[in-house]
Amino acid sequence: MTPTENKISIHNLIEKRWSPRAFSDTTVEQEQLETLFEAARWAPSAMNEQPWRFIYATKEDAEAYERLLSCLVEANQVWAKNAPVLFLSVAKTTYDFNGNANKHAWHDVGMATANLVLQATELDLHVHLMGGFSADTAREVLGIPEGFEPVSMGAVGYVGDPETLPEQLKTRELAPRQRKPLSQIAFNGNWEQK
Ligand SMILES: Cc1cc2nc3c(=O)[nH]c(=O)nc-3n(C[C@H](O)[C@H](O)[C@H](O)COP(=O)(O)O)c2cc1C
Repeated sequence: MTPTENKISIHNLIEKRWSPRAFSDTTVEQEQLETLFEAARWAPSAMNEQPWRFIYATKEDAEAYERLLSCLVEANQVWAKNAPVLFLSVAKTTYDFNGNANKHAWHDVGMATANLVLQATELDLHVHLMGGFSADTAREVLGIPEGFEPVSMGAVGYVGDPETLPEQLKTRELAPRQRKPLSQIAFNGNWEQK
């Protein structure tokens, strides 16, 4: 995968990160996995609530891995089943200190997940996040209690050979990465002001 083509220089880890579908079968050491969640742990959050929770499984624990895999939609299972690690992020939807709704919970789970993804990049790992999963299935098979909402799933591992993918996915894997121009997303002082 060609790294992001940027006119403006950005941090190497941000530039290196991308979401592969082809994963090699190299296992991810437990210590490395813990490093990913440690990075997530240090994300900022509203009221320092730390509303993030993660459920993960490695291929070594076939039953647990199968439980996570079963939450994914078929289109994601096709390739994610080769990743050595799967995880689900979960948001606690209320504040511990007063029980009120935490409107920032999803934001903060995203912050923690971004930390995890960048830490993975530092370790030469890749993470492919997925919204294509059933929250209901996750709730049921993973025992997620009331007050917590599944947010996203992720496949983690070392990049594999795109040739192992079905033709359509291989094309997507090798396609150039695209982004909106800066002028469409960052405004100076007022909406859409350049
Ligand atoms: C919340 C979220 C949900 C996503 N859902 C899926 C998904 O269900 N299946 C998939 O193949 N990719 C999914 N992606 C990956 C995006 O398609 C990918 O990040 C985007 O195309 C940009 O590509 P890049 O990560 O390689 O820069 C998701 C990413 C995020 C952050």
